Amino acid sequence: MKRVAIFDAYGTLFDVSAAARHLAGEPGGEEFAAIWEQVARDWRLKQLHYSWLRAICGAHTDFWSVTQDSLDWALDAAGVPDPALRQRLLALYWTLDAYPEVPEVLRQLKDGRFATGILSNGSPGMLDAAVESAGIGELVDAVLSVETVGVFKPARAVYDLVGSTFGVSAGNVLFISSNGWDAAAAAGYGFRTVWVNRNTEPQERLPWKPDWILPNLEDVPLIAARP
Ligand code: LAC
Repeated sequence: MKRVAIFDAYGTLFDVSAAARHLAGEPGGEEFAAIWEQVARDWRLKQLHYSWLRAICGAHTDFWSVTQDSLDWALDAAGVPDPALRQRLLALYWTLDAYPEVPEVLRQLKDGRFATGILSNGSPGMLDAAVESAGIGELVDAVLSVETVGVFKPARAVYDLVGSTFGVSAGNVLFISSNGWDAAAAAGYGFRTVWVNRNTEPQERLPWKPDWILPNLEDVPLIAARP
């Protein structure tokens, strides 16, 4: 029986706060250091809001456009609508840090004969760049972007991409996401689901619950090996 482990990308494999944090630590970044956490938080929240709103309204655009629009909102909110700052943050978004446990977890899954994949809102170009800069290309069998179906998560058409790519039923898929809403919706879809609650957030009040909650990805291979 084929077994598949599928990871969300942003926040799960790649640290979405890394762009703003890096910039705050660069020489000349002292002023930005005072506001980087607010900018990072607003950028991410608006990025998700815009993805959901565009999905609901049938007004799809790719995740790179959404990422730029949400950064513009966040910089406005922080009172720093500075084009040079914007350009630097966007450039850094293409090479976000992977969380430290990522390569070893993928390696263990491959050793356990799991097929591995990424299923993300990200555009193919963004995902390829992130995978390459993290050096995990050889550990991931398929990088699946919502651009194939033209709607963002948690539309079911996105989760359908796993079955159509790997030829497995939903019950043979372990889906791992740090986004509580994504893990919940994927559980509703029928995947076995891990919510990586990196920021100790409260559980989402949605009709579906993840099967497991972990603080990071380290124990994913252990869970994946369970029948
Ligand atoms: C993704 C976003 C939801 O990678 O984090 O799909």
